[in-house]
Amino acid sequence: MEKLQVFALCFLVGSFCSVAGALLQSDKQALLDFASKFAHLRPLNWNEQYPVCKNWTGVTCSEDGNRVISVRLPGVGFHGPIPENTLSRLSALKILSLRSNGITGTFPPDFGNLKNLTFLYLQHNNFSGPLPVDFSVWRNLTIVNLSNNGFNGSIPRSLSSLSQLIALNLANNSLSGELPDLNLPNLQLLNLSHNNLVGSVPKSLQRFPKSVFLGNSESLLDYTVTSSPIVLAPHDHNRRAKTVGKLSERALLGIVIAGSVLVILGFGFLLLVCLLKRKTVEGFAGKLEKGDMSPEKAISRSQDASNKLVFFEGCNYAFDLEDLLRASAEVLGKGTFGTAYKAILEDATMVVVKRLKDVNVGKREFEQQMDVIGSIKHENVIELRAYYYSKDEKLMVYDYYSQGSVASMLHGKRGDNRTPLDWETRVNIAIGAARGIARIHMENGGKLVHGNVKSSNIFLNSRQFGCVSDLGLSTIMSSLAPPIARAAGYRAPEVTDTRKATQPSDVYSFGVILLELLTGKSPVHTTNGDEIVHLVRWVHSVVREEWTAEVFDVELLRYPNIEEELVEMLQIAMACVVRMPDQRPKMSEVAKMIENVRLAETNRASSEAKSENSTPMPRSPGL
Ligand SMILES: *[C@@H]1O[C@H](CO)[C@@H](O)[C@H](O)[C@H]1NC(C)=O
Ligand SMILES: *[C@@H]1O[C@H](CO)[C@@H](O)[C@H](O)[C@H]1NC(C)=O
Ligand SMILES: *[C@@H]1O[C@H](CO)[C@@H](O)[C@H](O)[C@H]1NC(C)=O
Ligand SMILES: *[C@@H]1O[C@H](CO)[C@@H](O)[C@H](O)[C@H]1NC(C)=O
Ligand SMILES: *[C@@H]1O[C@H](CO)[C@@H](O)[C@H](O)[C@H]1NC(C)=O
Ligand SMILES: *[C@@H]1O[C@H](CO)[C@@H](O)[C@H](O)[C@H]1NC(C)=O
Ligand SMILES: *[C@@H]1O[C@H](CO)[C@@H](O)[C@H](O)[C@H]1NC(C)=O
Ligand SMILES: *[C@@H]1O[C@H](CO)[C@@H](O)[C@H](O)[C@H]1NC(C)=O
Repeated sequence: MEKLQVFALCFLVGSFCSVAGALLQSDKQALLDFASKFAHLRPLNWNEQYPVCKNWTGVTCSEDGNRVISVRLPGVGFHGPIPENTLSRLSALKILSLRSNGITGTFPPDFGNLKNLTFLYLQHNNFSGPLPVDFSVWRNLTIVNLSNNGFNGSIPRSLSSLSQLIALNLANNSLSGELPDLNLPNLQLLNLSHNNLVGSVPKSLQRFPKSVFLGNSESLLDYTVTSSPIVLAPHDHNRRAKTVGKLSERALLGIVIAGSVLVILGFGFLLLVCLLKRKTVEGFAGKLEKGDMSPEKAISRSQDASNKLVFFEGCNYAFDLEDLLRASAEVLGKGTFGTAYKAILEDATMVVVKRLKDVNVGKREFEQQMDVIGSIKHENVIELRAYYYSKDEKLMVYDYYSQGSVASMLHGKRGDNRTPLDWETRVNIAIGAARGIARIHMENGGKLVHGNVKSSNIFLNSRQFGCVSDLGLSTIMSSLAPPIARAAGYRAPEVTDTRKATQPSDVYSFGVILLELLTGKSPVHTTNGDEIVHLVRWVHSVVREEWTAEVFDVELLRYPNIEEELVEMLQIAMACVVRMPDQRPKMSEVAKMIENVRLAETNRASSEAKSENSTPMPRSPGL
């Protein structure tokens, strides 16, 4: 009825009103009805006068701004049953979080209308009665958390139809009966503990550890765990299955041949590694020599008074160029602007020496730029300690960070014994790096550009916050084209010449780092089909087609209650990587936005703690 009225209104207003606008209008009305019929302890700032998509707490719209796709209202103090025919009218809804409220009543039958529902978080409420009989109406459900409620009755067999399901948490309810055989190949997280289940664990679920069945009938624990579930991104799962199915005999023969070649190559590689290992203890001078400059020549230059290591104020290193040349050196990596070495001096001091190639400016200009860079003292910017300039050799000396770069932490070999970067650390990396870049953008009359923002230039400072390095070089180097593949993933579309990097292009590159932190994927990576994928394009396509958990790093889905933060961070990243440079936020604004993600969560957590401890709260007027 209401939709019809809105359409009629549109008809009258004529060209000003589009069908899309009408859909948003009806979503807005559904939310207003929900808020007015559903008692809550904390106020919602849902003001009819302000735009739903931009201003309403906990509400997110689709990219085109035509539909509400997510409602996240944890710990607002809702109590009583969810009013009928309110939320269920948000037919495009993908994310619903009403966790940690005091909601009672049964699972709302009209939620069956929310066919696109992908994430459902209703944990920590007081729901009762049976679970929905037919789960097959929500084909896209990916994460379902109904834990810590009073649901009773049996576990529906129809859960089997949720082929996208990654996480299912029904712990701490009053579910009874036997466990059905659930064939859920993508399921990675399961918790059925603290219910009244009886019987035995079906084969399909025996890959999960016994801890997920604790607190039920003892008989459930009587099985041997089959090999634990392989952690695969759901995307890969489908793809791999398809590829295997298509293998022909010829392909198999190819694999056998390729396999033998690999073995031979492997031996070669081992040999090479041994040779390289011996090389690494070779002195730094030796490295320079390879760059067409003999150590003697370099040293003799160092004795030339005008060519010596220039240290910055406040630097308490006590070594000179000769010490540096005698130091043992190890290649850390070849970057966009040159090669970085780890140099260990005789007194065991470790520094990073960056050897620039293709510097395109004279001595004076070089020194001026070094002074600008060296004057930045900020806990999120890696300090330049010293530099060296001669006609043939330009060096920069930085502190050494033993933990390695964020790139290696994220993309280093997975599985095995690698500890995943937890969400807290990832947020702190983002906050630190954003503050560091924002600080750089204030320098030189607000004109300094970092010019090479990428995860291999971000390290962790002593407080485990991000800290940026390798700044301010793009303008003094000759232009670099074509860029090496990896760097290309960070480059803003408008930057065709690395010398022309700008502050908005730094923001773009930073957005790519945020996406790396969220997805765990490299900025440019190849798929099984050898297809080269640009992270930004990939995220765009996933977000456009289906807002699912697929976009997030599987390692992150293990942390409880962070979905709101993940989605907010994704939105910040998307704002940074928009195509038009002038539409990107300023770096200082980005830093603020990221800080707010955390702040909001801290506030939320403390107020939830209050509501969960049922501290009486004053009933607020308004909505
Ligand atoms: C919504 O808009 C009002 C008025 O512009 C502002 O005071 C308020 O902070 C905004 N709220 C949010 C969550 O953006
Ligand atoms: C559900 O999601 C798909 C893909 O994002 C979209 O095409 C479709 O319109 C959505 N359904 C509704 C009712 O909005
Ligand atoms: C589920 O997601 C797919 C894309 O993966 C989309 O096409 C579809 O419309 C969504 N909704 C339903 C009900 O399948
Ligand atoms: C939950 O609901 C039951 C009745 O269904 C009631 O007895 C109980 O006190 C409620 N618990 C809380 C924490 O509100
Ligand atoms: C579930 O709980 C309700 C009361 O909340 C009760 O009436 C019903 O019989 C219970 N169902 C089962 C299967 O235990
Ligand atoms: C189960 O939920 C009740 C409240 O519903 C809570 O008091 C209890 O601590 C929970 N148990 C576990 C193991 O989480
Ligand atoms: C399952 O849930 C229970 C109760 O909420 C909790 O105590 C337990 O740690 C969870 N187990 C796993 C494996 O997540
Ligand atoms: C579900 O909620 C519980 C309780 O808050 C939490 O411990 C768990 O991590 C959540 N699981 C998922 C997959 O979100």
